[in-house]
Formats: sequence, C-alpha cells, structure tokens
Amino acid sequence: MLKVEGLHAHYELSHVLQGVSLEVNEGETVCLLGRNGVGKTTTLKCIMGILAPSEGRVQYRGQDIAGLPLHKISRLGIAYVPETRRIFGRLSVRENLEMGLNNTAGLNATQRQRRLDEVLGYFPELVPLLKNPGLKLSGGQQQMLAIGRALMSHADLLLIDEPSEGLAPILVQHLMQIIEDINRDGRTVLLVEQNARMAIRISNRGYVLERGSVCFAGSKSEMETSPEVRERCGL
Ligand SMILES: Nc1ncnc2c1ncn2[C@@H]1O[C@H](COP(=O)(O)OP(=O)(O)O)[C@@H](O)[C@H]1O
Ligand SMILES: [Mg+2]
Repeated sequence: MLKVEGLHAHYELSHVLQGVSLEVNEGETVCLLGRNGVGKTTTLKCIMGILAPSEGRVQYRGQDIAGLPLHKISRLGIAYVPETRRIFGRLSVRENLEMGLNNTAGLNATQRQRRLDEVLGYFPELVPLLKNPGLKLSGGQQQMLAIGRALMSHADLLLIDEPSEGLAPILVQHLMQIIEDINRDGRTVLLVEQNARMAIRISNRGYVLERGSVCFAGSKSEMETSPEVRERCGL
C-alpha cells in the first residue's frame, strides 16, 4: 500500500533523512520507533507532503506521491495526526472534527452527521464535550480529538505521530486500544512512537530508525525479542 524507498530529506544544510526505506501493507499496523531526533516525524512529513524529500521514492497504491502537496496526498486517502495535535483551541470539539471533512466536501448534512457518529463511536468520551472549545480539553481528550479529526476524512492510511506523548500510562493503554480498534475496522496504520513497548504490542511489524536511516526491521515477535530493538528504543 505504502512503499518508501531511499528517502533523503534536509532542513537547510542539515541532512536529516539518509535513505529511509519502509513498507506498509494494507490492513497492517506498522510501528516506526527510535530515539528522539532520529527522523521519525520527518519521515511522516515527507510521506504526507508537508516536507519535500530531496531524494527517494514514496509510492501509495502504486502511484508516485513524493513531492506532491499535502492536499493532494490527503485526497488520495492518507491522513496525518501530528505530534503537536494542532487542536483549534477556540473552535468547539464538533468544529474541530468537521475540519477533518475538508477534503471530502460534497457530503450533505445527513452524511456529515453519519460520519461524525461513526467517528464518535471510537471516542464516546467526546460526545458530552462536543460544544466545548478545544482548549478546555485534557491532553488525552485532545489526542482523541486529533485522531478523530483524521478519521473524519475516511482515509485508508493513518500516519499517527507519538500519540502517547505526555499522557499517563492508563490513558496510553486506552488510546492504543482505540488505535487497535480502528485498525481492526479496516484502517491501515503507520504509528510513530517513543513508547516502544506499547507500540510493538499493537503492531504487526516495525522499523527502528537511527540517525536518519532504518537500522532494524522485523515482525512483532522479532521486535519483542531483539536486543538491538531493546537497546535502540530504551526498553
Ligand atoms: N524544522 C526543522 N528545522 C531544522 N531542523 C529540524 C527541524 N525539525 C526537525 N529538525 C531536526 O531534524 C532531526 C530529526 O527530527 P525529527 O524528525 O523531528 O525526529 P524525531 O521525530 O525522530 O524525534 C533532529 O535532529 C531535529 O532537531
Ligand atoms: Mg517526532
């Protein structure tokens, strides 16, 4: 479904990605792990068209998408949940969710409501908060909202960047369960995490990045037992 080959990226003179290659098959949850600063977020930004790669290929369902702008990539069915969550603080929870509909304009009111209900099915705790402004939400609620907004677009592939960041362990567990449910219902997930243990638990396979390139690729069980993964991910 997604194939990244030899991806290089720069921030001005700094050569951040140095040949990242990875694949995600339809229906999988694949994790992308590694310590702070190794290039995980940059990889997602290049896939999503937020940052143009300086070299390499990104293919989505057989189509070359490297260098396409964000709006075109999102229209192809990829959605991105940024590390920073980017909730609109003054907009209500409902309005924040509806922002996710942007690229599927043309839905009538009934269809929009159906889409909203479908997404809220994963996040019943947001239902009583629909009219609240985004800035009143807790960190966990904001993360749910950020994932919910991405789901509103009906994307087939979700890129999720460090959903567990800054959340209490019990909430992290809850969120991972929701991501598992979303995957079980047919969405493919590329999950970036520093919380390697949690991420591996819900993934089919994974990759570990080290200084801008992949240093390990393996199945769930290989990741669980590899001393290299343990060392590189601080397990
Ligand atoms: N906008 C930016 N401008 C310059 N350097 C950046 C920028 N964003 C990230 N970097 C640098 O690129 C490297 C990789 O960053 P990033 O992809 O965010 O890593 P990760 O998500 O794995 O923590 C880091 O050294 C970081 O400091
Ligand atoms: Mg990051």
